[in-house]
Amino acid sequence: MSTRAEILRMLSDGAFHSGTDLGKRLGITRAAVCKNIRRLTQSGLDVHRVTGRGYKLDAPLTLLNRSRILKHLGAAAADFRDRLHVLDETDSTNRHLAELISHAKTMNGMVCLAEAQSGGRGRRGRAWVATPYHNLMFSMAWQFPGGPGLVSGLSLAAGLAVLQALEEYGVDGTGLKWPNDVLWDGRKLAGLLADVQGESAGPTQVILGVGVNGYIGREDAERIDQPWVDLRNILGETADRNRLAALVMRHLRSMFQEFAAKGFAPFREAWSSRHLYHGRRVRLIQGDREFLGTVEGIDENGGLIVHLGKDRQVFHSGEISVRPMT
Ligand code: BTN
Repeated sequence: MSTRAEILRMLSDGAFHSGTDLGKRLGITRAAVCKNIRRLTQSGLDVHRVTGRGYKLDAPLTLLNRSRILKHLGAAAADFRDRLHVLDETDSTNRHLAELISHAKTMNGMVCLAEAQSGGRGRRGRAWVATPYHNLMFSMAWQFPGGPGLVSGLSLAAGLAVLQALEEYGVDGTGLKWPNDVLWDGRKLAGLLADVQGESAGPTQVILGVGVNGYIGREDAERIDQPWVDLRNILGETADRNRLAALVMRHLRSMFQEFAAKGFAPFREAWSSRHLYHGRRVRLIQGDREFLGTVEGIDENGGLIVHLGKDRQVFHSGEISVRPMT
């Protein structure tokens, strides 16, 4: 464990700890403690310092722990034991996993989780903002024998799997926004990014990245350019990210297995019933083009069917927002 992570483990109870005490327990100087705390605050964590009392985290946290994740996986742990990589920091778990699978014999179910990402990526070229040590930053790999066309619909099915994992965790009131955002009270709780690679004849390799907001610190909150919510807001307490990671792993793995066998069809009805934009008037943005219409549903491949005046059109990419009534 890095010194930075050790300090965080001690601060994770949310109580005050003096620099002298932290230094003694770690065998480092007070100045070294101070330097590590400064690095933590620079990475977006809110650590308070009060003269005479020491350091305290704004919000308590639980560190990611490989053994705890495996314990929460129960019977499924055996399948993941050699495939689970938990990191302190990387640029992006999707990128890191792509490197890991290039050296691996089999990639299915290989997982990478990180406490911090220095270059987290979101959809549509956005950066993914997530305060270190508080959020779920997760990627899972899977290979399909067919060409990339076969996996359209996969990212929708994956969004449904993440929603189901959140429900099993105890988060009620979530819904989906096409193509794969998980919302709560109209605000984004989780987002997914699928990196797909392969020849037209197959095989196709998919790296599916999932970001779930556990807690977003004050400074990071200002950098997010869309309505968002975190688990701390919803549940009123710090989420157990190890349990949540295990649930996301189980749900995603069974989704990948079923999708490989049957495609999107078995997910279509459940997905549609959770779509928050069904029947709503929306604005759909695709590159620099904009369409105004009413959402009619999704087709058998997960494309969004939009009624545009006289026509209906199916969209396979883009971003929707509610269209104000005029
Ligand atoms: C979105 O914009 O909604 C997609 C967000 C995906 C973020 C996750 S965090 C883990 C993985 N690594 C990345 O760089 N991005 C994804």
